[in-house]
Amino acid sequence: MAVTLWIFLAFQVLGASSEVRQFFLKQASGQDCQTLQLGESWISHSIFECQLQCMSRYSENCQSVVYNSQTRNCTPGSIAFGPIEKVATSIPETGSSDKLYYVRQPIPPCNTSNNFALYDVCGTSACLYLSTSRAEDYDDARTLCRQMNSRLFIGTTMAKFSLFWYTSKTYINADTLIGLQDIKVEGNFVWENGEPLSDEQYQYIWLPNEPNNSRGKQDCAAALHALYPTKFGLCDGSCHKSRYFICERSEEF
Ligand SMILES: *[C@@H]1O[C@H](CO)[C@@H](O)[C@H](O)[C@H]1NC(C)=O
Ligand SMILES: *[C@@H]1O[C@H](CO)[C@@H](O)[C@H](O)[C@H]1NC(C)=O
Repeated sequence: MAVTLWIFLAFQVLGASSEVRQFFLKQASGQDCQTLQLGESWISHSIFECQLQCMSRYSENCQSVVYNSQTRNCTPGSIAFGPIEKVATSIPETGSSDKLYYVRQPIPPCNTSNNFALYDVCGTSACLYLSTSRAEDYDDARTLCRQMNSRLFIGTTMAKFSLFWYTSKTYINADTLIGLQDIKVEGNFVWENGEPLSDEQYQYIWLPNEPNNSRGKQDCAAALHALYPTKFGLCDGSCHKSRYFICERSEEF
């Protein structure tokens, strides 16, 4: 698992002001960045304690907090790209002394050979290759990424998954593979870096009634933009279908 460098440089906003949204939107306009509540609030003695506790409880999914300096209520949050169907409550954006703080995400280095480029959505960036033709199947997509010193995209946080969704929808707009499959053990979805799909991500990334292993042969996750042009969420599909794909390059390669 990659070690994340947390940057303790949160910046304060009064409510979720449009200025901050502008900041996050500046590199990819027309999208809808949202803050999502990750769980129950608790009491923290300072904003820093609030952020630390949020990160220790929710690790990389903690990307924003709401802190009230009077009640000392700390509410953990994430950032994602909508429409969001499955995450129940969003962080309250108004309220006398509730303030929203974003936790800034580090920008990864990007070696742009083989047409890789840095893409950014809602303040989260990754170094990506968006395929311009279909891979024969999941294995082929995996191999093509590997040959370019990269691997199939992994969406281990809501924000990173949002980045996948935004780039596949906006630039590919056809059925796109993501690096997530349950080939070895049915129902145990695993990202390409070996990390199991977390319960939190499970709630967030699938379409309703998915994954359903329809006809017993659906082990590879994909965004089916052709079949569901207006929906947000993955389906499990056949690993032997020809689809577009997104590779991600990071320092580990
Ligand atoms: C960038 O990647 C290419 C191909 O993967 C490699 O040959 C090259 O050395 C890399 N450049 C740098 C500066 O790391
Ligand atoms: C599984 O999902 C597919 C769409 O991907 C749908 O057509 C099918 O009816 C679903 N099967 C079950 C058993 O829910």
